[in-house]
Amino acid sequence: MKVDVLIIGSGIAGLSAAIALAERKRNVMIITRAQDAEESNTLYAQGGIAYKDPHESLKSFKQDIVSAGAGLVNTQAVDRLIEKGPRYIEEILLKKVNVPFDRSHGKYDLGREGAHSEFRVLHSKDYTGKSIELALLKYIERFKNVTIHTNKTAIDLLTLSHHSLNPEDRYKPSTCIGAYIFDQTSGVVETVFAKETLLATGGIGQLYLHTTNPQGARGDGIAMAYRAGGRIINLEYIQFHPTTLYSRERINRFLISEALRGQGAKLINKKGKSFMRLYHKFAELAPRDVVSRAIHSEMLKDNTECVYLDISFKKSSWIKTHFPQIYQTCKSQGIDITCTPIPVVPAAHYLCGGVYVNLSGETTIKGLSAIGEVACNGLHGANRLASTSLLEGLVFGTDCALALGKKLHDTTYYFPKVAPWKTGKEAVDPSLIYQDMNMIKQTMWNYVGLTRGEKQLLRASELLQEFNSQIEQFYKNGLLSDSLIGLRNMAMVSLLVMKAALLNKTSKGCHFRVD
Ligand code: SIN
Repeated sequence: MKVDVLIIGSGIAGLSAAIALAERKRNVMIITRAQDAEESNTLYAQGGIAYKDPHESLKSFKQDIVSAGAGLVNTQAVDRLIEKGPRYIEEILLKKVNVPFDRSHGKYDLGREGAHSEFRVLHSKDYTGKSIELALLKYIERFKNVTIHTNKTAIDLLTLSHHSLNPEDRYKPSTCIGAYIFDQTSGVVETVFAKETLLATGGIGQLYLHTTNPQGARGDGIAMAYRAGGRIINLEYIQFHPTTLYSRERINRFLISEALRGQGAKLINKKGKSFMRLYHKFAELAPRDVVSRAIHSEMLKDNTECVYLDISFKKSSWIKTHFPQIYQTCKSQGIDITCTPIPVVPAAHYLCGGVYVNLSGETTIKGLSAIGEVACNGLHGANRLASTSLLEGLVFGTDCALALGKKLHDTTYYFPKVAPWKTGKEAVDPSLIYQDMNMIKQTMWNYVGLTRGEKQLLRASELLQEFNSQIEQFYKNGLLSDSLIGLRNMAMVSLLVMKAALLNKTSKGCHFRVD
């Protein structure tokens, strides 16, 4: 099969890019490993999307991103985000796809989250990501030149390397011409040729035992780009969300949006004492890395498994209207948040690093772009400011597509013959895959987690190298499945994260070295 553009991933970045390309009459194929097109990190984003306070100059917005990023941000990326963000929200999300953001007295009801100095966050109750995702998918239905394929897992990128006797050619980047795609239903591996390929596969939360991220966040895009020779950066900067619902029974953590703290919710320890003022002048609204470590430290001090977040001072009806999803989910676990503090713990949430890209989303491999969480243009530096991830997907997804629209017009592409994918034949017991995934998650959680030290990292290094070589072997002979592909990617990306954390001895933002 041949397409103009292959987009791997169907969250806000991939869908924004698809819309801009479809409008430029390009034929676009979107694939997702999930059963439903909406299943993506975007679907689970609660708090909101940063817009602008009507009275602000946007200077303070820039300053907030730079400060949260602990001085490591690429200010050109920040300038692009704040210059284009409000415009794209208006043109695309409000006028074109009609996202139902909350209003109050005829105006958009702007919220505030951690490390924001102004009220500038647009939201749709506590399921903003879902409202955006569904509106984008609905809008895309009108384009005959966009097809969405679910239950299809990208295995590897198709790349041409430059074999030549000219020594100079060694430094030429390889070229991506599509991907091998595994059809989960038929078990067949398809070769999809694409003039341009876009990675929009999201993050890596599933490398950790506890995460707010869905099943697909297992680093597929990073692993594919790395295997193809792409540059990967800043993998040590993994943001832990400070407040996720603590439960002994459940591994995956339900997010308790920072928007609650934006509305005044207080963090309290086991003794019922508020503690955030001891750690930062912004207290509950300090940057996420600071809040997460403060919670961790209180838990260690009190030898307890969680701290608590209290919003019960607000009227019960107000809580139920503004945070219906959080209210219902906590209630289903026996916690009435209108009168009881919520038990919370930090969990892996967002990758600030990723596949290195420029502001147009180009990677170091020709024909391959990356957008959204899988990509890193330096926007978030060492720690992401709340409610900028949806905005990043919208802005850089759209801008990448605009640049590609022009490139597709000016470039001649050709596709050589490639060998069909060779797959192993040995059936793999799913419980073995589950067990290996669990070992990776435990190792990452215990040794490459919220805080890191050389001893733990070296232990992780031994374990992960061993897992990697075993899994690679097992993968070669095993009958292909979505989970086997995921396991191989998880093993590889865990090793990369561990190496990045080991090499970087300086604590900054969400990379915190105890030594
Ligand atoms: C939240 O609602 O707290 C998460 C939003 C984000 O990660 O930006």
